[in-house]
Amino acid sequence: MKLSVIGAGYVGLTTAACLAQIGHDVFCSESDLEKLEKLQNGGMPIFEPYLENVIKAARQAGRLRFGSTEDAIAWGNAIFICVGTPPLPNGDADLHAIEGVARTIAKRASGHRLVIEKSTVPVQTGAQLRKHLSVHQTNGLTHEVASNPEFLREGTSVEDFLHPDRIVIGADSPRAAEMLREIYEPIIQQEFTCPVHSNCRKLKDPIFLVTDTNSAELIKHASNSFLAMKISFINMVANLCELVGADVTEVAQGMGLDPRIGAAFLSPGIGFGGFCFPKDVQAFIRIAEKSGCDFSLLKEVEKINQNRVELFVEKLRKELWVVRGKKIALWGLAFKPNTDDVRFAPSISLVKSLLSEGAEVRAYDPEAMEKAKSALPDITYCSNPYEAAECADAIVIVTEWNEFRQVDWDRLRSVVEHPLVVDGRNMLDATEVTRHGFHYISVGRPPMTPNPALSAANDGHRQIPEICHPVF
Ligand code: UGA
Repeated sequence: MKLSVIGAGYVGLTTAACLAQIGHDVFCSESDLEKLEKLQNGGMPIFEPYLENVIKAARQAGRLRFGSTEDAIAWGNAIFICVGTPPLPNGDADLHAIEGVARTIAKRASGHRLVIEKSTVPVQTGAQLRKHLSVHQTNGLTHEVASNPEFLREGTSVEDFLHPDRIVIGADSPRAAEMLREIYEPIIQQEFTCPVHSNCRKLKDPIFLVTDTNSAELIKHASNSFLAMKISFINMVANLCELVGADVTEVAQGMGLDPRIGAAFLSPGIGFGGFCFPKDVQAFIRIAEKSGCDFSLLKEVEKINQNRVELFVEKLRKELWVVRGKKIALWGLAFKPNTDDVRFAPSISLVKSLLSEGAEVRAYDPEAMEKAKSALPDITYCSNPYEAAECADAIVIVTEWNEFRQVDWDRLRSVVEHPLVVDGRNMLDATEVTRHGFHYISVGRPPMTPNPALSAANDGHRQIPEICHPVF
C-alpha cells in the first residue's frame, strides 16, 4: 500500500522504515529542512540500532523516500501523523504541530484518506481531528481518522515495531480498522524479512486489538503512566531498603516473580527520563484534571521521580563532604542506553546541580555527547570512560551502557584521585568493583567498601595524570 508518514523523529522514522521493510511504498516527510536534507542524502539524524540499515535497504529497493509534508500528503492512501507533542508549561500536550498537519491535509488532499494519529495525544484528539478535517477540507477530501498508538522504546525501536506484543487500533468505522489490519498484516503474521534476528519464528504473534478511538488514545497514556508508576514505586522501595538495610535488587526479584506484578520496570535508579514518560505522566494528570478526575496518584509518581536526582546528589555530598572543587567523572548522558537522546535525561539536572555546587564535570557517553552539548555547554566531554575518570573524586554512572560493564578497573584505579563509584543504575557487579579497591555506592543496596589490602597495593601503582590539579 502507498503510505505516508509525517514527521521523521524517533517514532516517525522507525515507522516509515519498518513499514517499508514489510513491503509498503512509503513517503516520509520532515519539516526541519536540515534534517530532511540529511535523510535525503543518506545521513541519519538520530542514533538507533538497526535503523540506518533498514532505511538504506528500503531506499535502495525504492520503497522509501523523504520529502515535504505536502508531497507526503499527496502520496499515501493512509497518512500516519508522527509529529511531536511536547509539553506546554502547564503540562498539557502541545498539539499545534498535529493541528498544522491536519490543516495541510484538509487543504491539499483530495479523494479518500485514512488519517492515523500515531503521535501520543490526549484522549479525544481523534474526534477533534475528524471535525477539523471536515471543516477545513477544500478539495473534496473524504476521510477516516484512526488512532494507532506506538509502544516502541528508543534503543530497541526496530525490534519493538516489528515484533510488538500488541497492535492497538482505535477506529470508529470497520473500513478504517480493515485498512490498518491490511497495513499490519505482515507483522500480525510475522512474515517479513527481519533485519534484527536471523530466526524470528520462535517469537509469538502480536495481538491485533481494535477499540474505539478514545479508548486507544487512553491505552497509550495509561500504559506509559503505569510503567512510570512501577518505576517510582520501586524507587521508593529502594529508599526504604537503604534505611532498613535491605537489598532492593532482591526485593524486586521476589516481587517480579509474581506474574501479576512482573519483573519488568522494577529497576530502581536515578529516575525515568526521555521524551515520553515525564511528559506523558504530566499530560495524563492534566487530561484527568480537565475531565474532573483527581488522579493524584500520578502526581506522587511525578514528585518521586523529580526527587531522584536531588537524592542522588545528596548521596554524593555524603561521600565527598564538600562538592565544590571536586572532579566528577560522569558516565552516561543519554536518558537510557542505546540511544543518543538526552531530552529530559536525569543527567541534565544532575550536571546542573553539580555545577551549581562548584564541581567540575568530565563526561563520557558513547552516543549522546553531541546532543548533550547545547544543554550542557560547561562540562568537559571526553573520548572514553578512562579520560573522564582522570583525577576524579568520584565516578558517577547515570546511563547503563554495556561498555561500562567491560571497563578495566585496574586502569581506572590508577587514574582516579579517589576510588569511589556511585552507580545510579545498579549496573555494576559490586564485588568486582570493590575488589579493585573502589568504594561502591548504588541505589537501594548497602554500600560496599574495598578490600583495604588491595587498595593499598593499588595506591602504590597510581599514575598521576597531568590534568590533576585542584579547581577551587
Ligand atoms: C517508553 C515506553 O516504554 C514505550 O512503550 C513507549 O512507546 C515510549 O515510551 C513512547 O511513549 O514513545 P522509552 O521512553 O523509549 O519508551 O524508554 P523506556 O525503556 O520505557 O525507559 C524510560 C525511562 O525509564 C528511562 O529513563 C529508563 O532508564 C527508566 N527506567 C526504565 C527505569 O528507571 N527503571 C526501569 O525499570 C525501566
